[in-house]
Amino acid sequence: MGRIRVLSDQVANQIAAGEVVDRPASVVKELLENALDAGATRIKVEIEAGGRRLIRITDDGCGMSRDDALLAFERHATSKIRSSDDLLSIATLGFRGEALPSIASIARLELMTRPGDEATGTRLEIAGGKILEVADAGGPHGTTIAVRDLFYNTPARRKFLRAETTELAHVTALVTHYALAHPEIHFELHSATHALLTAPPVTEAADRIYQIFGRDTLDQLLPMAAERRFDHSGIPEPPPWRRDADYRPPDPGFLRLSGFASRPALQKLNRNSIYIFVNQRLIRDRLILHAIVEAYRNIIPPTSFPVVLLFLEMPAHEVDVNVHPAKTEVRFRQQSLVHDFVRESIRTTLMKTRPAASFVDALTASPRASSSLIPEIGPEDGPVSDLPSSQPPPAQSDAAGFTLAPPEPRPEEIHLPFAVPPAVPAPVGLEIREPADSVSIPSAAASPHPCSAPAFPEDGEPPASLHSLASLKPLGQLRESFILATNDEGLWIIDQHVAHERVLFEKILRERQTERVERQRLLMPMLIDLLPQQMVLFASLAGELERNGCEAEPFGPHTIAIKAAPAGLSGAALERMILEVLEQPGAAAQSDNLETARTRIAASIACHAAIKVNMPLDPARMEWLLAALARTDHPTSCPHGRPIALRYSWKDIQRAFQRI
Ligand SMILES: Nc1ncnc2c1ncn2[C@@H]1O[C@H](COP(=O)(O)OP(=O)(O)OP(=O)(O)O)[C@@H](O)[C@H]1O
Ligand SMILES: [Mg+2]
Repeated sequence: MGRIRVLSDQVANQIAAGEVVDRPASVVKELLENALDAGATRIKVEIEAGGRRLIRITDDGCGMSRDDALLAFERHATSKIRSSDDLLSIATLGFRGEALPSIASIARLELMTRPGDEATGTRLEIAGGKILEVADAGGPHGTTIAVRDLFYNTPARRKFLRAETTELAHVTALVTHYALAHPEIHFELHSATHALLTAPPVTEAADRIYQIFGRDTLDQLLPMAAERRFDHSGIPEPPPWRRDADYRPPDPGFLRLSGFASRPALQKLNRNSIYIFVNQRLIRDRLILHAIVEAYRNIIPPTSFPVVLLFLEMPAHEVDVNVHPAKTEVRFRQQSLVHDFVRESIRTTLMKTRPAASFVDALTASPRASSSLIPEIGPEDGPVSDLPSSQPPPAQSDAAGFTLAPPEPRPEEIHLPFAVPPAVPAPVGLEIREPADSVSIPSAAASPHPCSAPAFPEDGEPPASLHSLASLKPLGQLRESFILATNDEGLWIIDQHVAHERVLFEKILRERQTERVERQRLLMPMLIDLLPQQMVLFASLAGELERNGCEAEPFGPHTIAIKAAPAGLSGAALERMILEVLEQPGAAAQSDNLETARTRIAASIACHAAIKVNMPLDPARMEWLLAALARTDHPTSCPHGRPIALRYSWKDIQRAFQRI
């Protein structure tokens, strides 16, 4: 008895239907997913002419009997679900029984398959949906599907294909993604001339990132791991009168998050470097994207995006994957819980690790665009990539930031700088530890020569973390704008304005929560003339301004009178702050939610009340500022995303003086 069944019309009609195949990458996606669902441990993808001439995928999965192989090409024939109930908790990547018949109808297809427990396999040849040949075949267990001459019988669709390099870039991106989601599986991607990706199996996600993106990217990423229990199941329970006497509510299960988030210093101009996987399925999701952007709000500039690899695991019934014909979108049954969990987990990671920017990196760092690793599956999907799709393939694009051949040395030979922490009940991030330096440095006792290298801590350089801010001793100011300070880790330069801005910003937000923002009454109300649109905006923000210590009211049709101001703000700075808050173009203000308006006002007050550049500070004030900065949640960057403190590490200093 075969495994595959044709779904009843009633079930088939409940499946999100639409175009399955529109370019080579979508064929690769479907065949890869089938191989993964078949339990493969090795998957090889071969591409010729950007996939137009040939796409061949070989797996060592469960294979198919002859009956199953024939049935697999019927529409709605699947081994993965049986009934509409199964649609509520889909645990496989495929479930529609659509992919193989769709692919077979627009190409010449050859299938070789053999289940592990059968001596003979099957070879099938199909063209334009018609079976041309069925025969016995030998070969290893598993399945090989070769798709030739894509769209040979649908010239209109063939015309929409882009240049071979573009199509190959999409295929490469896609295979890369699946390789990231499945580190335990061996992936290979070959073009007619090159091995584009070779990723042997590894146990940790970090090792796979290293294989694909290389060491530099890995060093910029912070590992994340968190879990929480769902309070209840996302699927409604039967009403009490329908429950049996021995009814037990279903176990709601766990929501688990793992992955990597970039240090604030690594910024991208678009969101192409944000990868979201739900139950090992690559998806695009506005909700999760929003949670990620929120987590980085006021840590990186609003126009920049982080690099995030996010793996969410949850019971299959908590996520509906049957909402998009290409299966690239999902719907969470408990949306806000998932959103908040993602935001808090990332924020906690950033807060706990307090990653510091290196002085040397900051010199060369500027937000860069990344080419998308997410293929555009269809025009209706909306743009995910901010780059034109005619971009060069990632292999040639420096902006992509990943190498397609595994970097040397091979991962098994190197000691990776960190391990992914085991999941714990609360969001936890681990610091990246730099590996012990292999350069041996003579100890002070053994090398008394005055020119020899100073003693270096045995375990190498401490991680670049802002935890050590508290131990800083100020040396003085540079141009009355930057504080120079030292500790064991090296030399630090702190931007006095943005440091104070961060301190004030967090203070205002904290005090605002308890309605206790410090304010000062003005002896004389301060009058400010506004444009009509600013008056409208003022009307909507007056309450929030008041909660932030700024009491103001209309004074005639075009004027407002300020009666009290947040502590530290007066005169021209107060006026500039008000005008800045009311400067937002109307449309932006409309779409502003309260939370955004709140942080915008707090950031603006902090900016205008903060210590300025070109301001002399005595040692006591410098010490106070450094101590206050050390106590903030995010001493990494100011509310507008600029770095606050740069570290010129002890190691960099020694290197620059050629002592190591
Ligand atoms: N590489 C493979 N190894 C073993 N069985 C496979 C493989 N590819 C396909 N099959 C079998 O063929 C069936 C049909 O595959 P197809 O991709 O058309 O549908 P599906 O995976 O069930 O659903 P979807 O259309 O969502 O992908 C699968 O359910 C599976 O049983
Ligand atoms: Mg499938």
